[in-house]
Amino acid sequence: MEKGRVLLALTGIHPGRWRELLSGEREVVLEPDGASDPSITYAVVWKQRPNLLSSLPNLRAVFSIGAGVDHIFADPTLPDVPIVKVVADNLTQYMTEYVVWRVLDHHRQGLLYRSQQQKKIWHEPPQRPAGDISVGIMGLGTLGRAAASVLLSLGFAVNGWSRSDKPMKGVSTYAGEAGLIPFLNATDILVVLLPLTPQTQGIINYGVLKELRKRNGLGGSVLINAGRGRLQKDADILRALEDGTLKEASLDVFEVEPLPKTSRLWSHPKVFVTPHAAATSDPVHLVPIMLRQMAALERGEKLENVVDRKAGY
Ligand code: GLV
Repeated sequence: MEKGRVLLALTGIHPGRWRELLSGEREVVLEPDGASDPSITYAVVWKQRPNLLSSLPNLRAVFSIGAGVDHIFADPTLPDVPIVKVVADNLTQYMTEYVVWRVLDHHRQGLLYRSQQQKKIWHEPPQRPAGDISVGIMGLGTLGRAAASVLLSLGFAVNGWSRSDKPMKGVSTYAGEAGLIPFLNATDILVVLLPLTPQTQGIINYGVLKELRKRNGLGGSVLINAGRGRLQKDADILRALEDGTLKEASLDVFEVEPLPKTSRLWSHPKVFVTPHAAATSDPVHLVPIMLRQMAALERGEKLENVVDRKAGY
């Protein structure tokens, strides 16, 4: 197979470094050029323009620059070629850091101490062992499992929920619709790392938050979402915080991004906001993986980390 050209189609992300690194091995065409170009065999994308990929007659594979691929499926004429998601140690490490940082901050009362410091209050609330807190991770893929194993090593009790059962040593796992309520009932800190699909959209709603365990040393349940904003209902989270269903939340993702200035989440005293920054896609780490995969395909080898189109992730 000959060495195909790459179309780089990124929305809202500067293509400079991606282009430079891909150009080390391949000819790169930058969107909006390249539509219908028969010499293009790969596309590297983030929120590509609809109908762009279907115009490429010789497309062999599409590479997402992010771990999530929902942005690719938003295209109504997506051609039937393999879609490859990013799986990289560096991205997994970033996500693990974010999850562990937020879990520890809620566990060690970061919010309370920050407000006490502002008021110069010298007061030590009771401490409780990590083992008394159970962290429930929704989504037990590469990212969820990596975070789970570090949380286990810190002594937390860890639960996991996924679409189909994914056993993991030391983790109490639950699966599917039938497992959801038992999972929530056993969870104090809910960590959301699910892919966004038609099945998971809006899954983090008031009814679900209501099921979280509240009788714990934390003084309430906590939500951490580092998956996708449209998994959650922002208004339901506000309602849950206001009536005490939730004690605190750390949100990296939102229904609308950037989070509108008018959103009450920005200034809510119980919410910690980051701008979809939990795990940044770093081209220095990710481009070599993509280039390796393109070369492997041309040698007749199989692509890795191909998305299951029916499942949508
Ligand atoms: C970021 O949101 C990603 O999908 O990697």
